[in-house]
Amino acid sequence: MRHKVTVVGAGNVGATAAQRIVEKELADVALIDIVEGVPQGKALDIMESAPVEKFDARMTGSNGYEITAGSDVVVITAGLPRKPGMSRDDLVATNEGIVSDVVRKVLPGSPNAILIVVSNPLDAMCEVARRVSKLPRERVFGMAGVLDSARMRWFMAEALGVSVENTHAFVLGGHGDTMVPLPRFSTVAGIPLPELLPKEKIDAIVKRTRDGGAEIVNLLKTSAWYAPSSAVVEMVDAVLKDKKKILPCAAYLQGEYGMRDVYLGVPVKLGRGGMEQVIEIELTGEEAAALGKSAEAVRELFRILKV
Ligand SMILES: NC(=O)c1ccc[n+]([C@@H]2O[C@H](COP(=O)([O-])OP(=O)(O)OC[C@H]3O[C@@H](n4cnc5c(N)ncnc54)[C@H](O)[C@@H]3O)[C@@H](O)[C@H]2O)c1
Repeated sequence: MRHKVTVVGAGNVGATAAQRIVEKELADVALIDIVEGVPQGKALDIMESAPVEKFDARMTGSNGYEITAGSDVVVITAGLPRKPGMSRDDLVATNEGIVSDVVRKVLPGSPNAILIVVSNPLDAMCEVARRVSKLPRERVFGMAGVLDSARMRWFMAEALGVSVENTHAFVLGGHGDTMVPLPRFSTVAGIPLPELLPKEKIDAIVKRTRDGGAEIVNLLKTSAWYAPSSAVVEMVDAVLKDKKKILPCAAYLQGEYGMRDVYLGVPVKLGRGGMEQVIEIELTGEEAAALGKSAEAVRELFRILKV
């Protein structure tokens, strides 16, 4: 049985994620965008690379949702990205309308799909998708932590001159200025980071991770897409292959970490059932306080949602 993934938004993140999915032959992809010609053109261009890249997964582009029917996973990247000087939160009003519209259109044809939200502000857009879809939390979660921890892993590998494959990084909290990177759970070949680098260097890595999105926005004048698309594809892979992989994702908490009714980045187990389990760890007082602050920032956005 071939899997099917719909990617909504054929912009930088969506088209690159779609490309990575077919190149890895994870699934056939339906690529959707409102701009006429763009999803069709990008899908055709990518399919014309298939004979050279040697993949047999198919991508089709459309402005309508007919081709999305029967999708196993729907990745939502539709919406505006940040411009320099903007915070992710500045996008809330516009992207709320877009994400609601996408969920209403995609769900009737794919009632069993798992929704992975990428559009920003991430935690609030997850909540929009959850409220509009009325799906259980297992089937609506967001991509942020895999990206944030990939950024931290790269900074760790660069600082220590070691393989990225040796690195693990642990980032909790909302996808924004209040995210909580945890050095004591971040390791290189199993060795905790505080045993390998002095505090000033770790603090610099933590700060650069937190500001990682803004660093790219300042350089490119739009938000990142290579690493974000890799991150979302790792999540799609974990779901389609039922890997039971522990990854940091934006999950709707129901009492875990002492939080309720809020999306927050925490380690979860991803498998065919979607977000199958929230993994809880014991936090220090300081870490718990930072997570609480992050949850408050996310809740503030929930209050201005219209859905
Ligand atoms: N969660 C994360 O870690 C993360 C990382 C990077 C980007 N993002 C977010 O992802 C979103 C996409 O970023 P991008 O760089 O690909 O932007 P982009 O502008 O390149 O692409 C967005 C696409 O969405 C399309 N679109 C707009 N409204 C639509 C609708 N109603 N239906 C279908 N398509 C629609 C646009 O036409 C455009 O092609 C942004 O909100 C960005 O902030 C999130």
